[in-house]
Amino acid sequence: MDRALAMFGSEIAIAFSGAEDVALIEYAKLTGRAFRVFSLDTGRLNPETYQLFDKVEKHYGVRIEYMFPDAGEVQELVRAKGLFSFYEDGHQECCRVRKVRPLRRALRGLRAWITGQRKDQSPGTRASIPVVQVDPSFEGLDGGAGSLIKWNPVANVEGKDVWTFLRTMDVPVNALHAQGYVSIGCEPCTRPVLPGQHEREGRWWWEDAKAKECGLHKGNIDREAAPKAGTGGANGSAGAGAPDIFQSQAVVGLTRAGIENLLRLESRAEPWLVVLYAPWCPFCQAMEASYVELAEKLAGGGSSSSGVKVAKFRADGDQKAFAQAELQLQSFPTILLFPSRTARPIKYPSEKRDVDSLLAFVHSLR
Ligand code: ADX
Ligand code: SF4
Repeated sequence: MDRALAMFGSEIAIAFSGAEDVALIEYAKLTGRAFRVFSLDTGRLNPETYQLFDKVEKHYGVRIEYMFPDAGEVQELVRAKGLFSFYEDGHQECCRVRKVRPLRRALRGLRAWITGQRKDQSPGTRASIPVVQVDPSFEGLDGGAGSLIKWNPVANVEGKDVWTFLRTMDVPVNALHAQGYVSIGCEPCTRPVLPGQHEREGRWWWEDAKAKECGLHKGNIDREAAPKAGTGGANGSAGAGAPDIFQSQAVVGLTRAGIENLLRLESRAEPWLVVLYAPWCPFCQAMEASYVELAEKLAGGGSSSSGVKVAKFRADGDQKAFAQAELQLQSFPTILLFPSRTARPIKYPSEKRDVDSLLAFVHSLR
């Protein structure tokens, strides 16, 4: 922790919400170095959690940097699907709006972040998290894959040892712990657990244990799904069983016939942005969230639609030779813009695959 704070100064911050994070703040304080703390206020937290935030600010003399969801996006979601849509169609959409996008904004201002993830917190998704890693899902200050470091200093610490430390140091904790809550997130998606139940059973209990990541630590799921070393390199053809990515109504899935058709046209009614991808490729996975966000932005609603179509074409396996010959594929991901008035697609030349860089590319060439 001391090394991380020394190395990154004001460009590193602790992601704060629960008991483990109080332990991290306590450690940071003990180093004597300056440190930053941010928290994602989803608008759906328990009153006790807000009280904890206030107590922590006062106890440590810090100002937590709160990140809020985009008001327009929350309004759109709630008007379309109601306040509890996550019980009907899963928590991913609400978490994307209320947590993941605000987190992405926070991380774009940093070079590293510190989390309180532990391996024994979620055997389904966290059993192999490392203490330090290149963030597999998010981008930092410089943009692009690999631009953000993620520290999980308590990865190998057991929950009971975190609690021994908190009690010894006599620091503020969430009052809900005294009512049987262990892992605490948003109020509608968190419940107390019984003695002997795993703490993760108190989160999104209506969903499968393997899917219990809200997107903040999505790389935990991706890594489980990725092919093992030796079964194919970054541009091999392994991982046929990996779950598909870029799954959004705003991203059109192109078939071979569909992309051949796009290639044949001398001019098109609207420009098309197409990612050539392989679902097992970690660089494709790393840009998934920004590409989906871009697609949703460009799709807009009604009159706010940009007229740009955003699509994906799975170009590994049987399609790889065709994509190499006809679509300029050299490595995954390859992003192509088919402008409205030019026949030949233009290849995106940069490794920066954040929303703003991709938008600038589309707008300059559409
Ligand atoms: S979650 O992804 O399932 O919600 P969990 O509650 O286990 O995560 O917390 C793991 C770590 O993620 C925390 O120690 C903290 O670093 C970070 N985290 C979780 N929720 C938030 C939040 N609302 N704001 C900031 N960081 C958070
Ligand atoms: Fe929405 Fe529940 Fe996710 Fe909170 S945890 S953002 S309420 S789905």
